[in-house]
Amino acid sequence: MGNLWSFGALLVAGLAAVAAADDSSVFSKASNDSLLWGPYRPNLYFGVRPRLPKSVLTGLLWSRVEDFVSVQGNTRYTCEQHEGMAGYGWDAYDARTGGVQVVHDKGNGLDLETSFVKFDEGRGGWGARIKGTPRDDVEPVPNVQYANGGDNLKTAVWFTVGAEGLGSVQPQDAEAAEESGYTEDVILDGQTSDLGDFKITITESKENSHPTTSHPSYQNKPLDHTFVHSIQTPEEALWQAKALLFSSMKSSIDEYIEEYTQEKMPPPWQTYTIQNLPGQGNFHMIQKVFEGPFEFDILFTPASSTPKKSEDLTNAIKAVTKSFDEKYLEVHKPLAPFKDNKYLGFSKSLFSNLYGGIGYFYGDQVIDRSYAPEYEEENEGFWQEAEEARGRNQQKLEGPYELYTSIPSRPFFPRGFLWDEGFHLLPILDWDAEVVMQILSSWFNTMDEDGWIPREQILGHEARSKVPQEFQVQYPHYANPPTLFMVIEALLDKIEGKAGSGAALSQQTLGNIAGNVLATPDSVKAWLKQLYPLLQRNFDWYRRTQWGDLKCYDREAFSSKEAYRWRGRTPRHILTSGLDDYPRAQPPHPGELHVDLMSWMGLMSRNIHRVASFLGESDDEAKYAKIAEAIRRNVDDLHWSKEHKTYCDATVDDYEESVHVCHKGYISLFPFMSGLVASDNPHLKDVLDLIGDEDELWSPHGIRSLSRQDELYGTDENYWRSPVWMNMNYLIIKELYNIAQQPGAQQKRAATMYSALRKNLVDTVYNSFQETGFAWEQYNPETGAGQRTQHFTGWTSLIVKIMAMPDLSGKKGHDEL
Ligand SMILES: *[C@@H]1O[C@H](CO)[C@@H](O)[C@H](O)[C@H]1NC(C)=O
Repeated sequence: MGNLWSFGALLVAGLAAVAAADDSSVFSKASNDSLLWGPYRPNLYFGVRPRLPKSVLTGLLWSRVEDFVSVQGNTRYTCEQHEGMAGYGWDAYDARTGGVQVVHDKGNGLDLETSFVKFDEGRGGWGARIKGTPRDDVEPVPNVQYANGGDNLKTAVWFTVGAEGLGSVQPQDAEAAEESGYTEDVILDGQTSDLGDFKITITESKENSHPTTSHPSYQNKPLDHTFVHSIQTPEEALWQAKALLFSSMKSSIDEYIEEYTQEKMPPPWQTYTIQNLPGQGNFHMIQKVFEGPFEFDILFTPASSTPKKSEDLTNAIKAVTKSFDEKYLEVHKPLAPFKDNKYLGFSKSLFSNLYGGIGYFYGDQVIDRSYAPEYEEENEGFWQEAEEARGRNQQKLEGPYELYTSIPSRPFFPRGFLWDEGFHLLPILDWDAEVVMQILSSWFNTMDEDGWIPREQILGHEARSKVPQEFQVQYPHYANPPTLFMVIEALLDKIEGKAGSGAALSQQTLGNIAGNVLATPDSVKAWLKQLYPLLQRNFDWYRRTQWGDLKCYDREAFSSKEAYRWRGRTPRHILTSGLDDYPRAQPPHPGELHVDLMSWMGLMSRNIHRVASFLGESDDEAKYAKIAEAIRRNVDDLHWSKEHKTYCDATVDDYEESVHVCHKGYISLFPFMSGLVASDNPHLKDVLDLIGDEDELWSPHGIRSLSRQDELYGTDENYWRSPVWMNMNYLIIKELYNIAQQPGAQQKRAATMYSALRKNLVDTVYNSFQETGFAWEQYNPETGAGQRTQHFTGWTSLIVKIMAMPDLSGKKGHDEL
């Protein structure tokens, strides 16, 4: 089968979609069902919930239980950067079917595998297998004997189930429960209005070993039993499973102390157990204690479905991994020179963690809607006035909002970021276009009536607990790079089979449930029709609120309108630009023009024009074509510095003259990165000179954020002042590829640079991953070491696409040019 759509395939697929979508929504029930459940609490090592507000929240906790000092510190729950993990994450993951995750928990001497799969494309519920294997490098705790490489390792595991809203969950046969706990499977009965009736079964297996002790307490509570403790807690506290668990455990520890005294306590594996008190409540903890390797299953079964057994789970896990592996080779197969199997595993891991990072978030958020005049930032010294206005603390809780999104990093940024999301969705788009459409809809639905989208979505108590208070407030005059428009461009590229768009909109990327194709060119059109008013409103908002001043400063340009300036500026930062500390004009001035924002507006206008044309909105098409052209011309007129031979910001000097402010680096590359410098553009040569110059931006580890020649290189926070970032490098390499595909003076050179950069980037991310077990937020331009945030499988995962891009280095590649 070819990758491009033939007219016949298009017709057939279109009909299938019409049959599946029986309401005004383009997302069918079957599609929604397949996405209903997931590990949608990506801030946890393992936390399954449905994509529904006020529903069921599950979580997993575990700890080695061999001494009295370290248990609390070793109890894993939320992903953390400083728990000594030797890597963790999904080795395979598909949002429609499930996947397999392994947590290499060095500190607990345990590798924990958490498989998650859906039965019958989601309609049959889901299953999770929790499998622990002691690590070879398990280190003994003083006074504890080990034999056979950790076969004596004692581990406590807790599975928690919380019920929000009006639903209920309750252990079966709670009245008949004995103090000693359960010897068989534990079954919870549940019901909510969205989910109907369901059962959650936590299985018991005869294969597992459990620690014993001669301590008298063991007689009443042998550790081959499972303990269930139910409590009622305020709904806002349900996410705090670790605190709830330890407060429950405290009551049982206090009892031990009372009964046996501190001197004669039971061993830790007995002491750290919850009381068996199943019953009514909205939070249920289920505990098992193991010695050596272990395994148990969690099975969620809707009442409408036949009950599943562990055997079904075994088969489903096999089937899911097999189909993942097969699809992977069709969608993201690394190409030469990355054909070695090691790159395939690496690629799968990064992609699976990006994809497995998708979460569902629900709750209120903090917004300052005072619309203070100071926020217009129109006066000199505006940043002081704006700070005072912020200091009036006019923020309020708003909402609730909901968001279905992927995230930059599970331990550090487990929430939606507008700037990141467009990059995240590019590799996912190659895999399943309809999942991406659902995420885009979710994001655009958070837009307010003015057209503003909060750039950082911190929804609910759990999300806020990760963010210092001063960073929680969202301001409706703050923009952020409109990266979602990149995704719309990529989707349209696929539909039109544009070269270099990665996998075309093939049978694979369409998504496929029960033989029904989910995203077809027709359904994409229907969806864009729904989305179009929101896209327009968003575009208008950027133009209206982030405009730059041309008239006051006699700036000469093709268009007297198109110029842009980020609001939310301080002397040190433009956080709204996404490149927080990148050097800009000093001091800030209301007459500034920012070339990166101008470029984003170019990208935005190009794509809203394209959507209008795709939808046949001809009046709009003409209007947007004009704006896109004006921006394209004005980028050169306003931002090209003849003197520095590069694109620059502009500001206004002491004589009220417009002047360029040139700090060579990513900002200067923005017109190129956003596709505004075509192969026949006279400035292209200078742009490539800058990228390729080792004394400026080129490093063996990728393109630096700031030129080595810049006086601010590597200074102060050094966040965007030298390190190599994958999102920007992806845009650079993609553009080099485009130039290499078109006849022109720079074609050969672009191909050579493309190949060299591709190798440098992959080697850098791969080597660091090998060494540390993680992908990182950014890379050191001198050493290639990953730095800042660990487990940054957000846009760093773009390396997956870079590996799957064509090889232009070989002889064959050159002949093709
Ligand atoms: C599928 O889910 C979306 C988003 O939650 C919703 O808007 C749509 O109505 C659902 N479709 C069906 C057929 O239920």
